[in-house]
Amino acid sequence: MLEIEDLTVSIEGNRLLTDINLRIEDGETRMLFGENGSGKTSLLMAIMGLGDYQVESGRIRFKGEDITGLTPDERARRGIGIMFQRPPTIRGLKVKDMLEIIQRNGKDAEELAAQVNFTEFLERDINAGFSGGEIKRAELLQLMAQDPDLVLLDEPESGVDLVNLDVVGNAIGRLLQRDVHRGRSKSGLIITHSGYILDYVEADKGCVLVNETIWCTGNPHEIMKGIREHGYEECLTCQRELK
Ligand SMILES: Nc1ncnc2c1ncn2[C@@H]1O[C@H](COP(=O)(O)OP(=O)(O)OP(=O)(O)O)[C@@H](O)[C@H]1O
Ligand SMILES: [Mg+2]
Repeated sequence: MLEIEDLTVSIEGNRLLTDINLRIEDGETRMLFGENGSGKTSLLMAIMGLGDYQVESGRIRFKGEDITGLTPDERARRGIGIMFQRPPTIRGLKVKDMLEIIQRNGKDAEELAAQVNFTEFLERDINAGFSGGEIKRAELLQLMAQDPDLVLLDEPESGVDLVNLDVVGNAIGRLLQRDVHRGRSKSGLIITHSGYILDYVEADKGCVLVNETIWCTGNPHEIMKGIREHGYEECLTCQRELK
């Protein structure tokens, strides 16, 4: 689904990511860990082609096609979708109208909104005055309408209350075809700090961003336990031992 080869990314002349290599198979859900400021959001933005992130070297391939030079909308049309950590407010554009614009596969806005307790927000402008948890559900709802093949989720559970955590988690599980065990086609790359989302998706691999690059690919539960006990720097040590 996604192949990133030796990707180096900078913003305003500051290098944020160096020689990133990452491969996500069809049907795979991958977790991405890393301390604040390590570059996780930057990696997702670079995959989507957004913002001022400059690819200095390396390649991003999606379904075998080199998408490194494509615009964000071209990437979205090919089947990549993102839930932003901090999405913008779009005044003058109602949630309902956005869903109509981006929907693929004839998804009905009202039906989708009901699935994430969001019906009462359909007439409101996107993110205008939304609470933190409401923004997450608005983002998720847009992804459900777009129904991408590769889903990039930036801390999807962060700030979501305990009841809505279940709603959001289950909707993400459906988006990633959690219940399809043979021939699953949707893939995901999910950033998490708390790991709550692991209860709702079938993630078999996790990896850690430290010192501008990806280390320690392995079982996500074990990686989280390792980080809790020994911190992020330990990932460098354990990777060196493996080499
Ligand atoms: N224009 C810029 N100039 C310099 N540094 C920048 C610029 N934009 C972002 N950064 C820095 O890049 C680093 C990576 O940011 P990023 O948002 O990718 O981190 P993150 O891993 O997602 O962190 P968090 O877990 O807090 O969300 C941060 O230290 C940030 O301050
Ligand atoms: Mg971030």
